[in-house]
Amino acid sequence: MSRKWSPDSWRTLTAKQMPDYSDKEALKSAEAQLSNYPPLVFAGEARNLRAQLADAAEGRAFLLQGGDCAESFAEFHPNNIRDTFRVLLQMSVVLTYGGSVPVVKVGRIAGQFAKPRSEPMEKQGDVSLPSYRGDIVNGIDFDAETREPNPDRLIQAYGQSASTLNLLRAFAQGGFADLANVHKWTLGFVDNSPQSERYQELADRITDALNFMKACGVTSETAPLLNQTDFYTSHEALLLGYEQALTRIDSTTGEWYDTSAHMIWIGDRTRQLDGAHVEFCRGVQNPIGLKCGPSLEPDDLIRLCDVLNPTNEAGRVTLIARFGANGVDKGLPKLLKRVVSEGRKVVWSCDPMHGNTIKASTGYKTRPFDHILKEVHDFFDIHQAEGTYAGGVHFEMTGQDVTECLGGAQAISEEDLSSRYHTHCDPRLNASQAIELAFLLAEAIKMERETIMANKAVAGA
Ligand code: PEP
Ligand code: CO
Repeated sequence: MSRKWSPDSWRTLTAKQMPDYSDKEALKSAEAQLSNYPPLVFAGEARNLRAQLADAAEGRAFLLQGGDCAESFAEFHPNNIRDTFRVLLQMSVVLTYGGSVPVVKVGRIAGQFAKPRSEPMEKQGDVSLPSYRGDIVNGIDFDAETREPNPDRLIQAYGQSASTLNLLRAFAQGGFADLANVHKWTLGFVDNSPQSERYQELADRITDALNFMKACGVTSETAPLLNQTDFYTSHEALLLGYEQALTRIDSTTGEWYDTSAHMIWIGDRTRQLDGAHVEFCRGVQNPIGLKCGPSLEPDDLIRLCDVLNPTNEAGRVTLIARFGANGVDKGLPKLLKRVVSEGRKVVWSCDPMHGNTIKASTGYKTRPFDHILKEVHDFFDIHQAEGTYAGGVHFEMTGQDVTECLGGAQAISEEDLSSRYHTHCDPRLNASQAIELAFLLAEAIKMERETIMANKAVAGA
């Protein structure tokens, strides 16, 4: 693409899934206000994440990306942020220890508000109103005033993102993430589950290792890396006016970065080659995710890589496959083969959530945990068959004790769903299901790396 890029060059192209604001002046003024607000992240951090993702692309690290489907204004509470963070830390410890691989932690948090919808309008009885598009756009209650897209919400979402990120930075750097606290991250309500027992055993082994290191003189005082961690933020770059307003030139490199998050991704519904979302993302230097669903053809994927990553740098593009447990066998291999044959350097990540959404007989939107695990399993098998690395996972979870996905060790049934179903959008894994997923991942990673090493040894022999 030789067209000149600027932060607003997307405006002349078709932008799908964007709300129709009736008060254009109010929208302009909210965006102008945001463009004078401080950046949420620093470009150097986004570059560090790119470097870590380059490691994941080459099998030296694993990407763990998870959080809410949609953050909400109503659930904005420090305990919710803390609980999501600690489940991600627990998952990360399980993967690092069990899979022997460094984990790149990226939250769907501090900005994950805007949602694409299958229908622009929602009908209840005889009344038709604009669909709910996330708290950054409109409210979830079904009345005309709440469903009207409201530009003031952009400012509120920015404020919530800033405070969320502030707390996350404090947790990541201020001692909460100290490995010595590995036992303390467990949430009360998962205490008696089989996952918890398994986790406690693993935590015991880590504590033993830390005690051994302490005896050798290595503690968090002498090795500060032990008491802090890198934690990055991400969201879908859907609402382009908001993203543009936070896009700034990095004074150290002279390049453009979207400072609303470290990483942004393009959704499965907005990845048109000639569309506004691809245009916006190609010009910012953040790591970019691209959702790859069943309708994506190999030719288009390669063209998208050309546009988003013309210099083919590892760490720039993460391909997030979301085919569903029944579709991954058919959909993924042809994309994977083509990416390999074209020599594209990408991180392959598995989103086992968005292709596995069903409606329970009780009317709730849900996801069977079995299907989620099967898609992850198949994803690893397919990579193994191609000799490529499964580089990461992308999933929707919460630290809260919700009943939104079916199954898992607590055997959540269709009847149980109504008891604690709190999501504003898609059903999320609860803490115990998330940790169960982490154990499965750790085993899969370990097996994958052992097989690759063994194959290399045979090839070298
Ligand atoms: C999402 O990740 O919340 C989402 C809407 O996913 P997809 O674009 O893959 O449907
Ligand atoms: Co979702």
